[in-house]
Amino acid sequence: MHIHILSVIPELMESPLSHSILKRAKEKGLLSVTLHPLRKWAVNEYGQVDDYQYGGGAGMVMMCEPLEKAILELQKENKFDEIIYLTPDGKTLNQPMVNTLSLKNNLLLICGHYKGIDQRIRDHYVTMEISIGDYVLSGGETAAIVLVDAIGRLIPGVLNDETSALTDSFQDNLLAPPVYTRPADYKGWKVPDILLSGDLKKIEEWRYEEALKRTQERRPDLLEGE
Ligand code: 6GU
Repeated sequence: MHIHILSVIPELMESPLSHSILKRAKEKGLLSVTLHPLRKWAVNEYGQVDDYQYGGGAGMVMMCEPLEKAILELQKENKFDEIIYLTPDGKTLNQPMVNTLSLKNNLLLICGHYKGIDQRIRDHYVTMEISIGDYVLSGGETAAIVLVDAIGRLIPGVLNDETSALTDSFQDNLLAPPVYTRPADYKGWKVPDILLSGDLKKIEEWRYEEALKRTQERRPDLLEGE
């Protein structure tokens, strides 16, 4: 899978892409992430990529020309399955959307800044608009990293334990059950007996019950559709 990211501050994303699961995915050759600095396609020698908005009002808007030039140049080398614009007014990201995106081969992510990008680029090039939640970030970069992380860990072979993505919170519309590790008694705080019993069937039942209880308490909305 190839993910291309277009941004005015690509450096912001270097560190998160160089550690942990994303690092491993890249090293195994399962995922490539290419950062493209939008200023490469700036309209002048000052590196300008944004301008005042028509109609007035505070905040700059990212111009059509640099974005279009970047997209057209990248499209010469790549056949994108989706061109995704990260924006707070996009569709709120959830696990089913991540699952679907993890099956694609080639994605282009566009990170907005300031007041966002000129609407005409959204109308003519963007195929999908994604938000990561109902709050405002200062730019799309952190959202892009969230998306790449969520997608990257689902690519087959990326996780060590192949089954572990299947037992994530949300994969079955349930939150994950509580987990414990050694010691079995820490300062008198005990691990539930059932987990030490060795009875795998009972343990599975307990985990399911706990997941259900936790979901009912914390996220009853997840159970409503059933
Ligand atoms: Cl994708 N971008 C920005 N700037 N803010 C956000 C967001 C994206 N998702 C939630 N808030």
